[in-house]
Amino acid sequence: MKVHVADHPLIAHKLTILRDERTDSPTFRRLVEELVTLLAYEATRDVRTHSVSITTPLTRTKGLKLAEPAPVVVPILRAGLGMLEGMSKLVPTAEVGFLGMVRDEKTLQASTYANRLPDDLSGRQVFVLDPMLATGGTLIAAFNYLINLGANDITAICILSAPEGIAAVEREFAGSKIPITIVTGALDERLNEHGYIVPGLGDAGDRLYGVV
Ligand code: URA
Repeated sequence: MKVHVADHPLIAHKLTILRDERTDSPTFRRLVEELVTLLAYEATRDVRTHSVSITTPLTRTKGLKLAEPAPVVVPILRAGLGMLEGMSKLVPTAEVGFLGMVRDEKTLQASTYANRLPDDLSGRQVFVLDPMLATGGTLIAAFNYLINLGANDITAICILSAPEGIAAVEREFAGSKIPITIVTGALDERLNEHGYIVPGLGDAGDRLYGVV
């Protein structure tokens, strides 16, 4: 498994405002969108392409275009929805599927409550959007779900990650032949006793959409 932790002053600047408890929801949403676009740039480094020949006003030349079928982008509901716009800006031709996962706040176990995905993801490259990689339970369940549908290349984009969560995903997929990559804006210190990332930013869904 590959893990890429962003190391860029613009990302650090935006993350600092995002973490601040005084940042309101509209600003939080805008920053998440901007951060995802920056992280997606790195996450799509190995996006599948094919070569094409084109004619410029001056000459024939070769170029690259995204391969077909297009990648599938899967935001994990609810907080991952706040990341979709930023990703779609960068890869507008991607197909979008939805996976609703909830974690039991006592056991921290993740379970699927909704999905809207193609029945067959055989051979597809998938980008999963989940802002907080905390215990890793949600990502592990989501990756297994997508692999069972046939996905054979998975990259997750996470705004923040905890070392415990990265280690759990690494353990789960250690023997997997499927390339798995995590691209994250920052690797935080730890999880607290409630499974929240510290220093973190609190509950990403609540900060994006309010407490419901
Ligand atoms: N989910 C969140 O929204 N925040 C955390 O810190 C952990 C999981």
